[in-house]
Parts: sequence; structure tokens; C-alpha cells
Amino acid sequence: MVSSDTEAIHGHEFYDAGTGSFKVPLYLSSVFEHPDRRTGKARLSDRGFELKYSREENPTVRAFERVLAKLEHASDSLAFSSGMAAVATALFSALRSGDTILLSKECYGTTQELALDLRRYGVKTVLAGPDTDGLLAEIRPGVSLVVVETMSNPLLRVVDLKELARGCAEAGARLLVDNTFTTPLLCNPIADGAWGSVHSVTKYLAGHNDVVGGALALDEGGDVTELWDSRRRLGTIMGPFEAYLSLRGASTLRVRFEAQCRSAQSLAEYLADHPRVSSVHYPGLPDSEYHALAARLFTGGLYGGVVSFKVKGGRERALSALKRVKVIKPSPSLGGVESLLTYPLLSGSKNMSPSIREELGIGEDLLRLAVGLEDVEDLKADIAQALK
Ligand SMILES: Cc1ncc(COP(=O)(O)O)c(C=O)c1O
Repeated sequence: MVSSDTEAIHGHEFYDAGTGSFKVPLYLSSVFEHPDRRTGKARLSDRGFELKYSREENPTVRAFERVLAKLEHASDSLAFSSGMAAVATALFSALRSGDTILLSKECYGTTQELALDLRRYGVKTVLAGPDTDGLLAEIRPGVSLVVVETMSNPLLRVVDLKELARGCAEAGARLLVDNTFTTPLLCNPIADGAWGSVHSVTKYLAGHNDVVGGALALDEGGDVTELWDSRRRLGTIMGPFEAYLSLRGASTLRVRFEAQCRSAQSLAEYLADHPRVSSVHYPGLPDSEYHALAARLFTGGLYGGVVSFKVKGGRERALSALKRVKVIKPSPSLGGVESLLTYPLLSGSKNMSPSIREELGIGEDLLRLAVGLEDVEDLKADIAQALK
């Protein structure tokens, strides 16, 4: 067995004997010969699904899926047109009318909106947590699916996945973990006992702020038929060009993400000493209440590439910093080469219920910095001038 770093580059196992190319081509074809005129039968992909139409199965998409499955130590994976397409297809496939879904209160806002929408189809939605104990208290028999994020957004709370997986197993629930913020390099939810690990590939996996995509890695003993059928019916598959870029992104994930984590750590320490900053939320800081848990759960002494902080002077000062950054761009999202600063009340947390926002501490003074690959000293200088 080779390491994940080698799998990230070679895990698709592509080789074209005709040309000798080991780079996966971009198969833009929407259709494939069906049946194969040489054999009279349908061509099958490596996992046995018919290869005839790109809404169902596409060789470039398949190459990315194979690499992601290896990085996630999963039996298989499926790629989607966005992170939300992955979440929506997973919920559509896993839930039935009368089921109960439990979500962390600090799940990505749109995931919460989607789960709350399911009420109209007879699915009961419960919001709990956001910390491990609060979630465990609500994971009871009768709950069929639990959705959490490895590190919450925007306040970067960390949950104990092994404990949650144990609680889910006892209650007979499936655990679906959004691993976007930590990537398979810091965390492997399936190895910790989760049913599935979902990604906004838009973020670190593709990594350049030029792809919208999603993925779901699964531990189904290799049988992803039910989810594959849901994806086929909903039409939520990733496009081949996005898959091509995501495959390239995955091959450089280690070097990009490690650099982003190191810069984020350095920026968190810088912000913690900044006179215009009242608090910093980053699990890599030794005084973070999540530091010990993150140190135990995350590999490599790394704590992610996002830092949130509260600015003295509230909304006015926070929005002024957002206007004044130069190297850093004011924009939502994370995981790309450009550093992005966002005001959560106007982006990811905008549609959350105000009472939950208040309970979680997502206030008017909060900014979230997604660290890119620029020189960290240039980023510090940019923050210094923006906060002046
Ligand atoms: C943690 C998390 N999960 C899922 C999503 C949704 O992903 P996408 O924007 O690719 O649909 C996002 C988007 O920001 C996210 O931050």
C-alpha cells in the first residue's frame, strides 16, 4: 500500500496503452458508443456502471473519484456539480418521509436551509450542538442521519468524530461528516466510523478558486448503487472539465494545504496580539478551547487554513477592514490560492436564524480570513493597514 501523497498523484491508475500517456484526458464527450459494436454489450466503468452518457458516468470524473476515495480511505466516491449538490443528493438518497435528521447548529447555512426545507416532505429536522456533548445528547433511536462538520464555520469549533460515530452506531443512525475545512489530510471521517465524508471540492481539493464542485466518499463496501442512482436521477454529477481541474488540484493538495495551515497558524498568532482585535478563533492556538481535541484528532500538527477574529469597534470597523484590504480579496469561500476575507453576517451565516447566530457568537464584529498562498508577511502587512 502506498501513501496518500502518492495516491493523490497516481491513484486514478490511468494509462493509455495506445499513446503511452499517463495523464488523464478531458473526456468532454456527453455520449459513448452504446452498445460497444465489437462486443454487442454495454461498456462498463471500473466499478461496473454502464458508460454511455455523462450524466451517469464519465471517465474523467471517474478518475477524480478514484483519487478522492483513496485519499479518504473510502471504498468509493462520487463527484458532484457542487458541494451542495453532494449534500442534497446524499440527503435525497438517505432520507425517507417520517425520518429525523439531526444537524449541528453551526453547519454551513445553506446545508441547514436545505435540511429545514425537507420538512415539507415529512422529514423532521433537529438542530443541536454545536459541541460534541450537545450533539450526543440528541442522538437517540429514531434519528436516522446526523450531519456535522469537522470544523465549524465560521467559529472553527471542533467535534469529536469518534465519539459521534459511537453515538450514531448505538442509536442506529448514519453519520455524514462535512470534511471540507480539514480535507482528507487532517481528518478521515470514514476511518473514524462515519458513513460518508462530503466535500465542497470548490475549496481545498480543487484549490484555485476556479472550480465549483462537490464529492461524497462512502463506506458502503464499494456498493454506491443507491447514491449513484440518485445522482443519475437528479442530474447532479460533476462536469468533466471541473473533474479535470479537481484531479490536478488533488495532486498538489499536500503542498498547498500544509503551506496554508502554517500561514494560518502564524496569522492567528499575529492577530491574537493585535491591539484592534478582541478575540481570535483558531484551534491551533494553545489557549483555544478546541486545541487539545484538534491536536488529538487532526494529523500532522496542522489546524486548517481559516482563522476567524473579532474586531474592536464592531460592525463599522469590521466592514471598513473588508473594504480596505488590498492583497487579500473581500469574498466568501476558502481553500484557493488567493486569501479571502469575509463578513459572515453577509455571507455564510446570513440566512441562519438570528437566535442561533447569537447563541453561537456570530456577531457584528466577526471577520473570517481564508488564508491563501501569498507570502504570510504580505498578508500581515495587509491586515495591519486594513485595521489601522
Ligand atoms: C463547509 C461547507 N460545506 C458545503 C459547502 C457548499 O459547497 P458549494 O459552495 O461547493 O456548493 C460550503 C460552501 O461554502 C461549505 O463551506
